[in-house]
Amino acid sequence: GSKPPSCQTCPYWLRPGPVSGEGETSAKILYIGEAPGQQEAASGKPFTGPSGKILRGSAKRAGPTPAAGFITNLVKCHPPKNDNPQLEAIQACSKFLGQELQLIKPHSVVLIGALPTSSLLHKTPITKWRGSVFNDANILGHTCRAIPCLHPAGLLHKGQMKLLPLIVSDLRKANEPIISQDFDWSDAEGFFAPELPSRTAAIDIETTADKTFSEMFRVGFGFSDRRTVSYDAKHREQIQNLLDRIDVGVYQNGAFDIRILQREGYKVPKKIFDTMLAHHTINSELPHSLDSISSEYLHIQQWKHLSKAERSEERRVGKECRSRWSPY
Ligand code: URA
Repeated sequence: GSKPPSCQTCPYWLRPGPVSGEGETSAKILYIGEAPGQQEAASGKPFTGPSGKILRGSAKRAGPTPAAGFITNLVKCHPPKNDNPQLEAIQACSKFLGQELQLIKPHSVVLIGALPTSSLLHKTPITKWRGSVFNDANILGHTCRAIPCLHPAGLLHKGQMKLLPLIVSDLRKANEPIISQDFDWSDAEGFFAPELPSRTAAIDIETTADKTFSEMFRVGFGFSDRRTVSYDAKHREQIQNLLDRIDVGVYQNGAFDIRILQREGYKVPKKIFDTMLAHHTINSELPHSLDSISSEYLHIQQWKHLSKAERSEERRVGKECRSRWSPY
């Protein structure tokens, strides 16, 4: 395509391009990559090379999409030597991306790779933020949901294809309906209703970090409707009462929690499900910590990377739980 004269001051004025965005302007999802590669410069379409194959294949698996996505790049011309685009080019090109955002008004933006994530959302590093869902992000003045995702090009390096499920699960989040974040504290009273919301419940205990004798100080329960309840360990009767009414206990590495609960004299549900073991069977090559697994399935970043201030903000907003309640 031809370039507008205003592009003459851009360092990529003489580079192959521009490669314009591709898709319906009615698209609900805007995918933003870094810059076209050699194949994209040749075909004139974004993500048509090896990375594109991974991205488009993953998007298909993450579907069904509300409307086909619109695919574009931070920078529209092919950088020399396939390098990361220069800052000057990103700045010069941002007005075109801004126009695409204004035209499409996507409800979700997928930031593909480190560069779109750092320059549009000001978050680094990508390994920390991928999979996080920012519900009211400001992307060049457009308010929308933003989701950082690994760049498929990274998967083309030896041994990295094992990360593919993370791209699929992150793209899937862009397809989910947007749920109001309105939070009704009166829901919390539901915990005292005679019927449990579900007979399957997640059980998690907190213990002191002492190597020789770890002491249990808290027990938490989570139900399938996203309600959670957490007790100080001194409320033995309430804890046993709840345990008695659960048919299936869901643990992350229950071998530990069950042993401690039994040591403390509790009777635990006979049927168990272990998320760590389950994750071993579906994604054997990925890490199996709760931190990592939840970044795959929930809308949160890996919280062990969060600063203290960020953690308390996460708690305050209470994004993931419909209600949470700590009666004691
Ligand atoms: N990588 C990108 O970031 N964009 C493309 O269009 C192709 C490869």
